[in-house]
Amino acid sequence: MTTELATETPAWWTRAVVYQIYPRSFADSNGDGIGDLGGIRAKLDHLAELGVDVIWLSPIYRSPQADNGYDISDYEDIDPLFGTLAEFDQLLAEVHERGMKLVMDLVVNHTSDEHPWFVESRSSRDNPKRDWYIWRDPVDAHEPNGWTSAFSGPAWSLDTTTGQYYLHLFAAKQPDLNWQNPEVRGAVFAMMNRWLDRGVDGFRMDVINFIAKTESELVGESVHPSMGAQIHDYLQEMHREVFAGRDTELITVGEMPGVTVEDAALFTGAERNELDMVFQFEHVGLDHSDAGKFDNLPFDLVALKTSLARWQTGLASSGWNSLYFGNHDQPRSVSRFGDDRRYRYESATLLATILHLHRGTPYIYQGDEIGMTNANFESIEQYKDIESLNHFAEVVGAGAEPATVLEQMAFRSRDNARTPVQWTPGPHAGFTTAEPWIHVNSNASTINVQTDRAAGDRSIFDFYRRLIGVRHELPVVALGEFALLEPEHPALYAFTRTLGGDRLLVLGNWSNERLRLPEGLADDPGTRLIGNYPEWHEAVLEPWEARVYRRSERAGAEPVA
Ligand code: GLC
Ligand code: CA
Repeated sequence: MTTELATETPAWWTRAVVYQIYPRSFADSNGDGIGDLGGIRAKLDHLAELGVDVIWLSPIYRSPQADNGYDISDYEDIDPLFGTLAEFDQLLAEVHERGMKLVMDLVVNHTSDEHPWFVESRSSRDNPKRDWYIWRDPVDAHEPNGWTSAFSGPAWSLDTTTGQYYLHLFAAKQPDLNWQNPEVRGAVFAMMNRWLDRGVDGFRMDVINFIAKTESELVGESVHPSMGAQIHDYLQEMHREVFAGRDTELITVGEMPGVTVEDAALFTGAERNELDMVFQFEHVGLDHSDAGKFDNLPFDLVALKTSLARWQTGLASSGWNSLYFGNHDQPRSVSRFGDDRRYRYESATLLATILHLHRGTPYIYQGDEIGMTNANFESIEQYKDIESLNHFAEVVGAGAEPATVLEQMAFRSRDNARTPVQWTPGPHAGFTTAEPWIHVNSNASTINVQTDRAAGDRSIFDFYRRLIGVRHELPVVALGEFALLEPEHPALYAFTRTLGGDRLLVLGNWSNERLRLPEGLADDPGTRLIGNYPEWHEAVLEPWEARVYRRSERAGAEPVA
């Protein structure tokens, strides 16, 4: 798991690109309207041709699907919605045959309330599994503290059988496990080992910094949980019990809302044996107001550059970044940060260029490789996500105007990223032969894989393919030192990457206006390695134009894409 440059070989994942699949929305193979393992198997060549190295699957374990599988009732089995264990083994073999790796989602901050562990735990106060979850007595006939659930309402539910509250940082159907209990840790580690023995190549760990609670906060005045101090012990113990001895071929990434760059340096420092990288949230929180994520603030490029540059610097000598603009919890990146109408091709490829040229491991969310947009939903009936539905009920119940809330949700809801992948211009976008579980985006007849891949030099897929190729080919993309240029410029995103005598200059015009480059910025830039306009003028960037130049002191520095 080492990333250091000088003497040791850099870890394989410094050169790797990860592709995230949200299975229920990827491809349906059996005509029930829900994506499944058969659908993924049928589309593996799409991913192999794109050139990604790793596939991360959002949860496919048995689940009541209260939070689309992030509420697991059996860690050892595949939900029948998605397939069987035998089919999973086939999928894994087919992924490996194509030279790719497969990463599972690990959701162990909480289980489903239908997991046998919780069914036992709630059955009586002296059940041996009582202490596997977090139970507290009422305080003055109320919740033990003031924590709220990420999906609205209190983070505690009273269980009438035993008269105690249990903690759920997410839905009431997602009770939090008690990581202080060594039996819980042992059971989780054993389960992880079984998946690794089965052949999976690592884990994306759901809200993993939440597993450690600060004991003194669990009862009393506390309003927001803070990360418990034992988190590093838990992760080091996990490393010893699960990863030690086989970690060099694996990849581990911890999802960590609220993590600071200082924490991240500890979580990902190679010598500490915790995680390879974390998903941080700073840059995806810049457009949330203090009133919460549904209160949308205007996008501010200077703030984004400043934030990402701090992470680049903060993890430059020790640790490693993961790079993402979107996932199943975020709006579509081209709708959020780009112009998803007039400049959809240009802005989708600019976003890809900026992201993939940072130092770190890039993550592509399904559909981003063809520039899929926000959902275009107009009525509450179209939404399926528990967070969105609970939010709507809560704020409309408190008097908010439904139309205003729907407008906010049309920009922010997690369902924007969860509409079916658009494969063809045909019925249901080629995702299914039946009624899909969630509406297909109304733009599917023009935005789809088939149309994009036939679009020649305006194919977003092809642009991603070339970007991934550049990372595989040039060590400077994986490892080069990062330096931000023109930090205060409101529309220009410019930086260099340098490794030995090799230098990349990355330029992006994050706007709908033509932009004249600042004097001297692109003097002697070298040759253009990749860009999203077929012709270009050295001193000018067209709307959403992105361009990467390479200047190398070594001989034979030919453009590779
Ligand atoms: C993570 C997941 C999200 C889920 C939550 C609870 O943030 O990415 O989809 O709802 O954890 O498991
Ligand atoms: Ca299906």
